[in-house]
Amino acid sequence: MNIQENISLKAYNTFGIAKNARFFVIAKSITELKDALSWAKDQKINSLILGGGSNILLTQDQDALVIKIEIEGIVIVQEDEDFLWVEVGAGVNWHQFVLTSIDNNWAGIENLSLIPGTVGASPMQNIGAYGVEIKDVFARLKALNRDSLKLEEFDADQCQFGYRESVFKHELKGKYVICSVTFKLKKVPEFHTEYGAIQETLQASGIKELSLRAISDAVIKIRQSKLPDPKEIGNSGSFFKNPTISTQQFEALRDKYPTIPGYPNEDGVKVPAAWLIEQCEWKGKRFGEIGVHSKQPLVLVNYGNGDGEEIKNLALKIQQSVLDKFQIEIHPEVNFL
Ligand code: EPU
Repeated sequence: MNIQENISLKAYNTFGIAKNARFFVIAKSITELKDALSWAKDQKINSLILGGGSNILLTQDQDALVIKIEIEGIVIVQEDEDFLWVEVGAGVNWHQFVLTSIDNNWAGIENLSLIPGTVGASPMQNIGAYGVEIKDVFARLKALNRDSLKLEEFDADQCQFGYRESVFKHELKGKYVICSVTFKLKKVPEFHTEYGAIQETLQASGIKELSLRAISDAVIKIRQSKLPDPKEIGNSGSFFKNPTISTQQFEALRDKYPTIPGYPNEDGVKVPAAWLIEQCEWKGKRFGEIGVHSKQPLVLVNYGNGDGEEIKNLALKIQQSVLDKFQIEIHPEVNFL
């Protein structure tokens, strides 16, 4: 085990925030992960699990052992006439897995192309985009219990998936480390093109026949046109979740703001946080090294040397302005550390 001291985490979080880890280690297997957790326990220091670092905002140095999960592997574990069950190591890069699935004609995750982060982090917040969520293709996962150091299995019900939610963000927060995820993928694709932008992009590209690759390419094109590439501008994707408000509140707001977009769901009406933030005139605003992205105001950015604390303060101001103007609370999707 190669435990390093005082390591900068700048390269390990997509926001590119330069905070340090007191101790840092890479775990390439479950055995290495257990060793690292045991070491931290013996030293009486906290341990912090890191995947692709694409959904965190570092606001301080981490007085902990930061364990970066690099457990690899993409293995078909079961198969029938219609489906394949593919077990994927938590450390596999999500988009690489999507590309592998397309190369092999495994269908179901093509709409989730180009999402940053690792496979192990994907069930934590039930990643989703363009009409598909991880829960739609999820079979089960294996996670290490941080107390007992035993591997346990969770099915979809036990994960309690919701919009950008799972049990691992609530009751079981900090209690398990996801080591692998098994996905149930289709042999014959069922294309999801109901999201308007996908259809427009396919048409603009002159695509006549749908394929996994065509959908993936369209999603990549849309994402690249709206979302900043973390390699160029630090960011964490959507910083806030889209709020759901009551139908009554939505109708009252629509009287005042006739252009307000809204998508009815079982709890009321979902309103795009991007629209609310844009109305509060934050879109494209830059404050020194940090700011609000000019093409998608749901994304906060670090232009290079931004500080996590500053981004947190900007987020608080945005939340307050949306609350003042629309009486709607918006909540971060990103985890503050
Ligand atoms: N909008 C604006 N101004 C803008 C951009 C968008 O008003 O500058 C409004 C428009 O009404 C637009 C609506 O927001 O129709 C929705 O925009 P978009 O399609 O870009 O999606 P989103 O709701 O802002 C969500 C996810 C994204 C995901 C897209 C596509 C959340 C928090 N975000 O964004 O996920 O890629 O849908 O499915 O649900 C992520 O989680 O990191 C992420 C990027």
